[in-house]
Amino acid sequence: MDVRSVFWRDQKVMLIDQRLLPGQFVVSAFDTVEAVAGAIRDMVVRGAPAIGATGAYGMALAAFHSQATDREALLDDLRRAKALLDAARPTAVNLSWATSRMLAMAERAPVASVEALRRALLAEANAIADEDVEINRRLGFHGAALIKDGANLLHHCNTGALATVGFGTALGVIYACAEQGKRIHVWVDETRPRLQGARLTAWELMRAEIPMHLIADNAAGHLMRTGQVDAVIFGADRVAANGDVANKIGTYKLAVVARENGIPVYAAVPTSTIDLNLASGDEIPIEERSADEVTHIDGVAIAPAGVPVYNPAFDVTPHRYITAIITEEGVCYPPFDLSLRRAKEAAEARRREKSM
Ligand code: MRU
Repeated sequence: MDVRSVFWRDQKVMLIDQRLLPGQFVVSAFDTVEAVAGAIRDMVVRGAPAIGATGAYGMALAAFHSQATDREALLDDLRRAKALLDAARPTAVNLSWATSRMLAMAERAPVASVEALRRALLAEANAIADEDVEINRRLGFHGAALIKDGANLLHHCNTGALATVGFGTALGVIYACAEQGKRIHVWVDETRPRLQGARLTAWELMRAEIPMHLIADNAAGHLMRTGQVDAVIFGADRVAANGDVANKIGTYKLAVVARENGIPVYAAVPTSTIDLNLASGDEIPIEERSADEVTHIDGVAIAPAGVPVYNPAFDVTPHRYITAIITEEGVCYPPFDLSLRRAKEAAEARRREKSM
């Protein structure tokens, strides 16, 4: 999938405006950290790894706009920018992971001048973005080994090139299968309320010419019970140390029905999505979004005006429903507390080796 959802050009953060797809393909420029935080909040850009890279570029922007003349003052500005960016969306840990990496780099970088530090921050944001694509390719390769030729896969939300910097996580596994010549077919959950499946995943898979059918979310149980699904695969916004997975609302229901029908359930995540600081999914903050996402579709009301609405954007799937968690460092199996820690350590060791 030849799409880069986030990049830097002429001192601006460039984002594919995902709110306009599939109707229009528009790349918009954001030139202040406030504008970048707003783009994350309003879901111009969405998907955990994509908002992570966007947050990193937001930190670089903050450095270039800072009036600081010494390092300590620049660090203060960066801390303020981090707080603003992190608050934009609370569930995906990739956002604070990326802004923390940017800040840590600024605190430690052996550079002489504030100007050199600004350039180093942009280089770090570019590295985060480039690494994301490379990580997804490795993750896709590991995941493809789990998928048999001829498989019917059920996919939730959008986890492709749009949700990352490029290639994708769960969709990356699907692209890797296709590259290997496996004949696969994808059931694409529409993913109410924002329809990331119908609008974005269907767009990506049709461009990639991968056989698929779009389904209403409510069709998934029927397909599983009637033997038409070989595996359920999705991404995640945060994985707790015990393997509990927070992902787009509706994921939990899929995993429970899959278990009932003996179907494997795979979560595909970069190790930056694993949060070893949280013991279980109960500690993951769940974002609530506005009522109009539920009451309106493309501006058209589908419910009575003033109806009370509850709109949690994510749910937590307990780890007992997850067959395996696919990462760029390999496939993690239960007990997840052990396998996830090993994957995180392997990723850290790889990064240290690269920077030497
Ligand atoms: O609200 P969104 O569209 O940002 O939610 C995205 C998801 O839930 C994805 O499944 C998750 O971020 C993984 S993307 C590789």
